[in-house]
Amino acid sequence: MESQVLERKSSTIMSKTLIKKARLITASDDTRADLLIDGEKIAAIGMDIDARTADVVIDATDKLLLPGGIDNHTHLDMPFGGTVSSDDFFTGHRAALFGGTTSHVDFCIQPKGHTLRRSLEMWRAKADGKAAMDYGFHVAITDLTDAVMEEIRDLPSMGVTSIKLFMAYKGALQVDDTTLFKCMRVAKESGVLTMVHAENGDAIDILIKDALAAGHTTPDWHERTRPPELEAEATNRAIALARAAGDAPLFIVHVTNEEALNAISRARARGQRTYGETCVQYFYFTRNNLNGSRNDPFEGAKWVCSPPFREHNDQVALLRGIRLGDLMIVSTDHCPFNYKTQKILGAESFAAIPNGVPGIEDRLVMLWNAAVLTGHISPSKFVELTATNPAKMFGLYPRKGTLSVGSDADIVIWDPVVRHTVSAATSHMNIDYNLYEGMQVTGKAEKVFLRGSLVVDGTSWQGTRGGGRFMARASALLA
Ligand code: URP
Ligand code: ZN
Ligand code: ZN
Repeated sequence: MESQVLERKSSTIMSKTLIKKARLITASDDTRADLLIDGEKIAAIGMDIDARTADVVIDATDKLLLPGGIDNHTHLDMPFGGTVSSDDFFTGHRAALFGGTTSHVDFCIQPKGHTLRRSLEMWRAKADGKAAMDYGFHVAITDLTDAVMEEIRDLPSMGVTSIKLFMAYKGALQVDDTTLFKCMRVAKESGVLTMVHAENGDAIDILIKDALAAGHTTPDWHERTRPPELEAEATNRAIALARAAGDAPLFIVHVTNEEALNAISRARARGQRTYGETCVQYFYFTRNNLNGSRNDPFEGAKWVCSPPFREHNDQVALLRGIRLGDLMIVSTDHCPFNYKTQKILGAESFAAIPNGVPGIEDRLVMLWNAAVLTGHISPSKFVELTATNPAKMFGLYPRKGTLSVGSDADIVIWDPVVRHTVSAATSHMNIDYNLYEGMQVTGKAEKVFLRGSLVVDGTSWQGTRGGGRFMARASALLA
């Protein structure tokens, strides 16, 4: 049964909402409680809060209350692979909110020759007037000059406390080890976290050229030319460079395979400040998906992303990684490209397929099904992976990422039993396919609040274009 609005007083300004009898889940607790929202904040959590204190009372018996999800790895409105990712800062935000994600940190990519300040202005302009949820930016460095080195020191004053370096995409976003090492050192001194896309782009470039010369053009060759050992090599190299940079904090994004994960686990076991992230889709798909369907082998292009999908044993390793904490965040790497008009750019060559997959709307429900309902993790661990750890790692905690008095009232009323089928037809992402098309799942974000405002109510959109805010972030709270 849907959570019921029990009472709505006839005041014109609805500022206080009381959610009653929910099972309230945080990274540390799983308890029955009432929660009072006052304006944008959580004002009280406790047993039997007096309903007379509220303008609106919602009965959430049999529902879970979760902190709004934080997706720290997204690419909205991003120029890439000769095209632009298909969700902008409105369509991507609306879709995220329907899925229970209330804030995100996107990648501002430094166009070569530009300052970081100018790059950030460009990315903030993309969000201006469109944002419907709260957002922040990491800056991806593509062109390191002495002036840019100095700018890295200033990033925290601009509300940006993480940089990203691509070790792959040769000729486009890839940086060399000199850049990597210099950035790690200055980032460490400045309270800035270094994130890396770990794949050996030089070796991949040779494998791609060889494959194309031999006449291999189909999407499955995307995976064949990006083997797991080249992800593991880059992961090990980044870890070694970070260690030599005086234990610079290092965050490895979108880990896909056991060998790369083992490198992170070894670093963490010896006490190095190394942190891993994986993405929800890596629990679901394997290299076989890149073969496409019998009718349409090119359909494999829908699953073209980097690093690519791996094997079943890697999925088992990733589940172990989130359980043990070496992978501390599950994000999406949401980077959508329409199949019919954008993925098709690679019809003649797998190397021209824009890299990236959609998922900003699907993250919570798909992780819930892959990891909670299968008994691998508890609901509290789920909250840790999707909200609390992203908030701590990216300088948003405790403003966001938890349910505590004084925190932003970013709240999801989660229906843990409703069953439904995932489909592009009912999704809100601006893309013509869904990776999980036809999968039957259990659980759904039923009501979603952003800073106290109800933005999603069942299938009804109540949010506001332009209602999202830029989040200036603090430095990471590192364990
Ligand atoms: O294929 C992907 N992952 N596209 C987005 C860019 C990146 O590497 O994160
Ligand atoms: Zn990447
Ligand atoms: Zn990415």
